[in-house]
Amino acid sequence: MNYNNCDFVIFGAKGDLSKRKLIPALYKLDKKKILHKNTKIIGVGRANWKKKEFLKIIKTSLKKFLKEKIKEKVWNTFKNRFSFCNLNVNDTKKFFKLKKKLDITKIIINYFAIPSNLYHNICKGLYRYNLNLKNSKIVLEKPIGNCLKTSNKINKNIGKYFKESQIFRIDHYLGKDTIINLLYLRFSNTILYNNWNKKHIDHVQITIAEEIGIEGRFKYFNKTGQMKDMVQNHILQILSIITMKEPKKINSKNIRKEKIKILKSLYFIKENEIEKKTVIGQYSHGKINNKKVSSYMSENFEKKNTNTETFVAIRIDIHNDRWKGVPFYIRTGKRLKKKCSKIVIVFKNNIPKTFNNFKNSKTNKLIIQLEPNEKIYLNFLNKVPSLKQKCELKKFKMKFTYSKNFKKKSIPESYEKLLLDCMLGDQSLFVHIDEVKQSWKWIDNIVNIWKKVSKKPELYVSGSWGPYLSKKMIEKDGRKWI
Ligand code: BG6
Repeated sequence: MNYNNCDFVIFGAKGDLSKRKLIPALYKLDKKKILHKNTKIIGVGRANWKKKEFLKIIKTSLKKFLKEKIKEKVWNTFKNRFSFCNLNVNDTKKFFKLKKKLDITKIIINYFAIPSNLYHNICKGLYRYNLNLKNSKIVLEKPIGNCLKTSNKINKNIGKYFKESQIFRIDHYLGKDTIINLLYLRFSNTILYNNWNKKHIDHVQITIAEEIGIEGRFKYFNKTGQMKDMVQNHILQILSIITMKEPKKINSKNIRKEKIKILKSLYFIKENEIEKKTVIGQYSHGKINNKKVSSYMSENFEKKNTNTETFVAIRIDIHNDRWKGVPFYIRTGKRLKKKCSKIVIVFKNNIPKTFNNFKNSKTNKLIIQLEPNEKIYLNFLNKVPSLKQKCELKKFKMKFTYSKNFKKKSIPESYEKLLLDCMLGDQSLFVHIDEVKQSWKWIDNIVNIWKKVSKKPELYVSGSWGPYLSKKMIEKDGRKWI
C-alpha cells in the first residue's frame, strides 16, 4: 500500500482550524509533491454545499492563511482532490453518504477538527458502516475533554472503535521543527548531553508568550483558560522533551515511554504552596505594537464577571534522580508584549573558587528561541584583551540563527509535518493516552486548588510581560525572567 495514497476526511471542514491550518498544510504538501496523485480530500459538514461552493471556501482560506502566493499549477491539481459530504455527525445512520465517497482499499485518515464532545458519535457512525477498518486512522485535536474525568470518558469511548495504534492525538507544538530539534540538540551534542542534569543546571525557564488575544473564541476560552489551552498540552510536552531520558530508539514507543516517565514524576503542588508557586492573570486593555487593544472582559459577551485566566506562571518541580531540586519556571499568556517562545537553560556556577570572584555569576545560559526568529545562543565569559595584571571578563554570545545558517531551507509548518507523519503511520509526534491522563491529573490538582481557595487572576496591561506577581514569584527564589 502506498503510504500517502489516502482518502483524507475532514470533519468540521468549514471550521477555523480547517481553514487556517489543515487546508494550507495540505496545499503545501501537494506543492512539494508529497501527496499521492490519487489522494482525495473529503470535507464533511452540515452545510448543503455543492463542490463549487466548497472550492470557493478553500480558495479563500488559502488566500488568507497560506502566507505565500497560490501557484495556479498547484491549485489546478489541488482543487481536483476535493469533494464535500453533507452530513450531520449526530445522525450516524447517514454515514453511508460518506462511505460512498471513500475508497476503502486506501488508507483513510479521519481528521476530527470539531469539539471533542462529538468524537464519540463520529466513531459510532464510522463503525456503523465498517469504516473503522485496520487501514483507517483518526486524528484528534486538543483539548480532549476538560479534566481527567471527561477526557477519560472520551478516550474510553473512542477506544471501543479504534485501537491506540490508529489514534493520532495532535499537539501541534510537537510538529514544530525547533521542538523536534530539542531531542537532537540534547542527545547529539556531548557538551549538552553530559551536563543536562541537576549537577550542572540551576534552573530552566519556558516562555510561550502570545501577542494575540482570544480572537473571538470567548465561548471556548472562558471554559478553558490558559492553563488548559496551553499548559496541559503544549507546555507539558515541551517540558517532557527537555527533561526526558534518551530514548533507546528514535521511535514512537520509546520516545513516548520516556515522556510518560517525566509526566509521572511531576511534583503535585500542595494547597499551602499554591500562592508561592502559581500565578494567574487576565489581560486588561493596553497597546501592542502601538495599537490599542481591548481587555478580556470587553470580549465577554456574557457580561458577567469572570475569573478565567489568560496568563499562567508556575514553578514546576520534577521528582526524579536527574532533576530533583531544579525548578522549571513556566509562563504563558495572551496579549503579552510580543510573540516569543523560548527555553532558557541556566547553568550552575560550578567553577573553581579562584575564578568565582568575577562579576556575572551564572553566566552560562543556553537560550533556545523556538519562534519567531528561530535561534540558539550561549552566553559565556571571555577575557578583555589588555596588559593589565587584573583581568576583566566580559559576557558574550555565541549565536546560531536559522535564517543565516539555513538560508535555502524554509522551516516546515507543524501541520505539514504532522499530517505527513500520520499518513506514514508514525506516532512519535503524537500524544499517547497515558500522557493525556498524566497531564490532566497534574493540571486538575492545581485547578481544583485554585477553585477551593477562590484564586483570582491579577489584571495585567495588554502589551506587558504579564502580572507583577509573576515577576515576584521567580524573584522570591533569587532568580529573574530572561
Ligand atoms: C493553540 C491554542 O493550541 O495554540 C491557542 O488553542 C494558541 O489559544 C495557539 O493561540 C498558539 O499556537 P502557535 O503555534 O501560534 O504558538
